[in-house]
Amino acid sequence: MKRVLSGIQPSGQLTLGNYIGAMQNFVKLQETEECFFMVVDLHAITVPQEPAALREQTESVTALFIAAGIDPAKSSTFVQSHVRAHSELGWLFTTLAYMGELERMTQFKDKSTGKDSVGAGLFVYPTLMAADILLYNADLVPVGDDQKQHLELTRDLAHRFNSRFGDFFKVPEPYIPKVGARIMSLDDASKKMSKSNPNPGSFIALLDSPDVIRKKLSRATTDSGREVKYDPANKPEVSNLMTIYSHCAGLSLDAIEAQYDGQGYGAFKKDLAEAVVSVIEPLQARYNEIRSSGAIHDILKQGAERASVVADETLAKTKELMGFLAPK
Ligand code: TYM
Repeated sequence: MKRVLSGIQPSGQLTLGNYIGAMQNFVKLQETEECFFMVVDLHAITVPQEPAALREQTESVTALFIAAGIDPAKSSTFVQSHVRAHSELGWLFTTLAYMGELERMTQFKDKSTGKDSVGAGLFVYPTLMAADILLYNADLVPVGDDQKQHLELTRDLAHRFNSRFGDFFKVPEPYIPKVGARIMSLDDASKKMSKSNPNPGSFIALLDSPDVIRKKLSRATTDSGREVKYDPANKPEVSNLMTIYSHCAGLSLDAIEAQYDGQGYGAFKKDLAEAVVSVIEPLQARYNEIRSSGAIHDILKQGAERASVVADETLAKTKELMGFLAPK
C-alpha cells in the first residue's frame, strides 16, 4: 500500500478544475492506498484572508472533500494548522532551500509580478508544501499540472536533506491525470481555470447553481469552426470543453468525437452542461447534508489525531538527524 498526501487551499471557491485535476484522483486513490487529505489554511494566509471568511472556507472545503467522495473513515481528512508539525518542519525546510530556486517558482512569479509589496510567506510557500508532503513520507502526491514544479522542489529538498543528514525522506512522485491536469478558463483557453479570476464566467465553481453552470457553459468560448475534435494545439477551447465532458460523463475523447460528428457545437454544449450538472447537483446535495449535520468538527478532530501520530514521529526524527538537542 502506498502513502498518498495532498491538499487544497481554502481561499475562495473551489472550481471544476480542482475537482478534475485533483479531487477525482483523491477519491480514486483512497480505494487502494493509505491517504491523507488536508485543507491547507497555512498556505491560504500567504495572501491576505479575512478571518471570518477563512474559517468559513475551511469548513466549506472540508465539506466539499466529503461531498466529492472522500471517506474520512478511509482517508485522514484534516486541517493543516491542526497538525503543528507542518509549521515546524516548514521552517526547517526553509533553511534548506535556496533563494534562487524559490525565485524560479512560476506560481511565485505569477502572484508577485507587478505587486508593490509581496509577502515573505508567498516566497517560502513551497518549503511549507515540501514539509506537508515529507512529513508523511508520501509516495504519491495527486495534483494538477500547476503543482508539478513545487513537487520537483520537494524532491530536491528531500534529496538535499538525505545527502546532508542521512537517508531518511522518501522522494515523492507526482500523480497527475493524463487528461484534465490543466482545465482552462472558459473565456480564454490560454489561462488556467482559477478561483481567483475576477471574471466569474471564466470558471465553474463547485457551488454554482445548475442554472448558472448552464449559462456559463453556453457562453463558453469556442472557435469559428464546427468540428468537435480533440486537438489542444489548434482547438484549445473545444479540447478543454471535451476534457471537462469526458471527466463528467465518463466518456472517452474518441467517443465524444464520434457522438458529435457533423453536428456543430450547439448540441455538444448543451449535453456538456447536463453532464457537468449531473456531477455537481448530487455533490451539492451531499455538501448541504454534511454542513447541516454538524459532523465536520468531529471528522477534522479524528483526522488531525491520525495525521499527528505520523507527522510528530517524522518531525522528531528529522530534528534528531539535524542535531537538535531533545528536551529531557
Ligand atoms: P490549490 O489549492 O491551488 O489547488 C488544489 C489542487 O487543484 C489543482 N488545480 C487544477 N487542476 C486542473 N486544472 C485546474 N485549472 C486547476 N486548478 C487547480 C491543483 O493543481 C491542486 O492539485 N500548493 C497547493 C496546495 C498544497 C498541496 C500541498 C498540494 C499545499 N500543500 C501538499 C499537494 C501536497 C495549491 O495551491 O493547490
